Amino acid sequence: MQSTDKILVLDFGSQYTQLIARRVREAKVYSEIYPFNFSIKKIKEFNPKGIILSGSPASVYDKKAPIVDKEVFNLGVPVLGICYGMQLMTYILGGKVAKSQKREYGRAELNIDKSINLFHGSRNWLSQPGQQHGTTIVWMSHGDRIEEMPAGFTSIAHTDNSPVAAMANIYKGLYGLQFHPEVVHTPYGRYILENFVYKICGCSPTWTMKAFVDYSVEHIKKVVGKEKVICALSGGVDSSVVAALVNKAIGKQLICVFVNNGLLRKNEAKTVLDTFKIHMNLNIKYVDATKRFLKRLKNITDPEKKRKLIGREFIAVFEDSAKKTGKMDFLAQGTLYPDVIESKSFKGPSATIKSHHNVGGLPTKMTFKLIEPLRELFKDEVRVLGKELGLSDELIWRQPFPGPGLAIRILGEVTENRLKILREADAIVLEEIRKAGLYRDIWQSFAVLLPIKTVGVMGDERTYENVIALRAVTSLDGMTADWVKLPYDLLVTMSNRIINEVKGVNRVVYDISSKPPSTIEWE
Ligand code: XMP
Repeated sequence: MQSTDKILVLDFGSQYTQLIARRVREAKVYSEIYPFNFSIKKIKEFNPKGIILSGSPASVYDKKAPIVDKEVFNLGVPVLGICYGMQLMTYILGGKVAKSQKREYGRAELNIDKSINLFHGSRNWLSQPGQQHGTTIVWMSHGDRIEEMPAGFTSIAHTDNSPVAAMANIYKGLYGLQFHPEVVHTPYGRYILENFVYKICGCSPTWTMKAFVDYSVEHIKKVVGKEKVICALSGGVDSSVVAALVNKAIGKQLICVFVNNGLLRKNEAKTVLDTFKIHMNLNIKYVDATKRFLKRLKNITDPEKKRKLIGREFIAVFEDSAKKTGKMDFLAQGTLYPDVIESKSFKGPSATIKSHHNVGGLPTKMTFKLIEPLRELFKDEVRVLGKELGLSDELIWRQPFPGPGLAIRILGEVTENRLKILREADAIVLEEIRKAGLYRDIWQSFAVLLPIKTVGVMGDERTYENVIALRAVTSLDGMTADWVKLPYDLLVTMSNRIINEVKGVNRVVYDISSKPPSTIEWE
C-alpha cells in the first residue's frame, strides 16, 4: 500500500499480534506485521514511521527466545514494546528483567504516574478525571517483569505487582508497556495506541477505504496495462469484492468465470449471475459443470476423497474455460491478509484437519501472473471495501459457504435426488433465520442431510425417510465456534416446515456441538 505513514509490527508470536495491527488500522494508519527477524535492510525499505514489538509466549531468558536486532532501536524511528516487546527492549538495552513474584494474568489496576506521551490526555479517562495521577483498568498477561530500566528510561505507570508497568525514553523515542493496550479488556488502550501513532510517530489518519480504492485502482491499471485478467467468482464476499475492484480499474479487460459445480444452494447460481451480470455489468463467463461434478462424485462417500476430487475438478473446469477465453495474463485472487501472515508467522502451521478447497487455491500449473488486491486487508475491512464499491448488503454480509458446497453437507453419496432434498431444507433454514433477524449475528446456519433413515408416521401411514440435522454456530474466524441457542419457537417452525414441505424427510435434529471438539461442517 502506497501510503506515506506506516507502522511496522514485529511479531514475536503473541496471540494478540493481529489485534495490534487492526487497532492501528482502526486509527486510520496503515500497518503491517512481519516476523521478529525481519532484517534491518527490509525495515528501512519498508520505511515505517513507528515500530511496535509484539508480545510473545517466550521469556527473554529462554534459549530459543525470539530476539530482535539491536539496531532497531537506533533507526531514529519510535519503537513501542508491548509486554514481551518491552522486556526484550529492556534486556537488549542493558536493563534487568526478572521473573515476577506473582504471574499477572487478566485485569489489573494501572496507576498512571505521569499523564504524558503514551498517556497524553489520560486526565479525561482516569479514575479521578482532571488529576495528573489516577488509575485505569488494563489487561496483563506476563510472567516476567522489569526489575531495572535501561539507562535513559523513566517509569510512567505501575501496578501493585509491576513497579514499571510503562516506561519511556523520550529522547530516543523508545516506549514500553507491560500490559496489552490492543485488547478490549484494556478499555482506554485505543487512546494509548493512538498517542503512539499520532503524537509520538507523527502519523496522520489518512488510511481510509476510499484512499485504498483510489490507490488500488491506479495500481491495478498500472500493473495490468493492456493485458487481460481472469477471476474465479464464487459469489462469496472475497471473490466478489476482488471482481468489483478489478472491474472498476480495468472494466472489460477482466473476465470472470463462474463455475456452477452443481453443489450450490437453491437459486444460488441465478442470484450470483444476476448480481454480477445485470447489476454490476461484469464480463462473466458462466460454466454449468453440474454433470461433470456429479459424475465424478458417483459412489464416493469418503469426506476427504470428496473434497480432493471437487478441488481437482474445479481446477480442471477452470483451466478448460480459461483456454476458451483466449490468452489471459493475470489471475485475480481474493487472498486476505490473515492468509498471508499465516504463512510467515512465528508459529508453525497447524495440522491439516480437512483439505480446504476454495477459489483462492487455484491453479498449480497454469502460467498466470497473480494480482491479489486484498492481501493487505482483514475480513471486516473487505466488507467495508465492498460497501465502498457499492456491493449490496446481502452480498457483503453473506455467511461463509465452503468451496465443496453441499457435497460436504450430504453425508454419504451425493446424488441429484439427495441434493434436491438438502437444497429445499436448507432454503427453509435460511428463510426462517433471516425472518427471525438472526442472519448477520450467526456465523453460519445450514442444514445437513444424514446418511440414515428413520421410521415416522404421517397421517396414518408409516414412513421410512431421511433425517435433516440443523446447524447454527457463532464464531469470529471459523477456527473455534459455539452452537447457537436458537429460540425454541424458531426450531419448531423450521422442523415443521422441513418435515411438511420437503418430500423425503420425516425427522429433524439440532446439532449442539461446539468446535472443538467437533468441526463446523460435518465432513
Ligand atoms: P470446519 O468444518 O473446518 O470449517 O470447522 C471452518 C470454516 O471453513 C469453512 N470450510 C471451507 N471453506 N473451502 C472453503 O472455502 C473448504 O473446503 C471448506 N471447508 C470448510 C466452513 O464452512 C467454516 O466456515
